[in-house]
Amino acid sequence: VAGGGRRGDLTGRRVVVSAGGTREPIDPVRFLGNRSSGKQGLALAAAAAARGAQVTLVTSTPADLAGVDVVTIETALQLRDAVVAATAEADVVVMAAAVADFRPSTYVGTKIKKSHDTGADGSADESAPSITLVRNPDILAELVTSRGAASSPVIVGFAAETGDESGSVLDHGRAKLERKGCDVLVVNEVGEHKTFGADDNTVTILRRGSDESTEVGPASKAAVSDAVWDVVTTLL
Ligand code: CTP
Ligand code: CA
Repeated sequence: VAGGGRRGDLTGRRVVVSAGGTREPIDPVRFLGNRSSGKQGLALAAAAAARGAQVTLVTSTPADLAGVDVVTIETALQLRDAVVAATAEADVVVMAAAVADFRPSTYVGTKIKKSHDTGADGSADESAPSITLVRNPDILAELVTSRGAASSPVIVGFAAETGDESGSVLDHGRAKLERKGCDVLVVNEVGEHKTFGADDNTVTILRRGSDESTEVGPASKAAVSDAVWDVVTTLL
């Protein structure tokens, strides 16, 4: 049973969870997005609430969870503002959202048409437009920087990794944990047969400054959530 023996161990704690993939608008009808379903983030929020925490969920995936304060966002910039605002007095921040690394540099306020008239002779321009991208802020890195030398909040990141010729999923996870400077990194193996949007998940939970790792799954996203909170509670 999710949270079975741990009910109440987050009582009095304030936690912020981000969830879902951000959408970066191109024009009024189009966006750049990703395949994140938001299910793991929603499960984390629900598990924290079941364990007694006061939870703020910042999400692009619509949610209605008992006892959870839900802030719905669309873009990475909106997600940043909402997370930073909610984090001011938080004990824990979990960045489960799949934040777009880039966004279109300009938003076109009217629908981009397939072809448009150009020149005085009214000839149609049939060329394909290009989308120029700019970097989004790295919210996790900002949270780590603004915490500075303080011990709170505990900061948890997620990483979806594939192994490649330069290292295994775990090698990439450890390197990312060091680079990001968060306290915990939940590493998710992704690949052709590991589909997004599934109800089960397999993760490895890494802690900064520890060689130990906790492997969880395949298990429900609720069970994975409780395993993450089990690790976080040891750091509070
Ligand atoms: N993240 C973030 N802001 C971003 C991008 C990512 O806060 N602009 C957070 C994610 O929510 C996640 C963690 O950073 O908790 C790791 O995301 P990931 O995409 O794996 O890391 P990146 O540093 O973006 O590296 P990569 O080049 O592998 O995408
Ligand atoms: Ca990224």
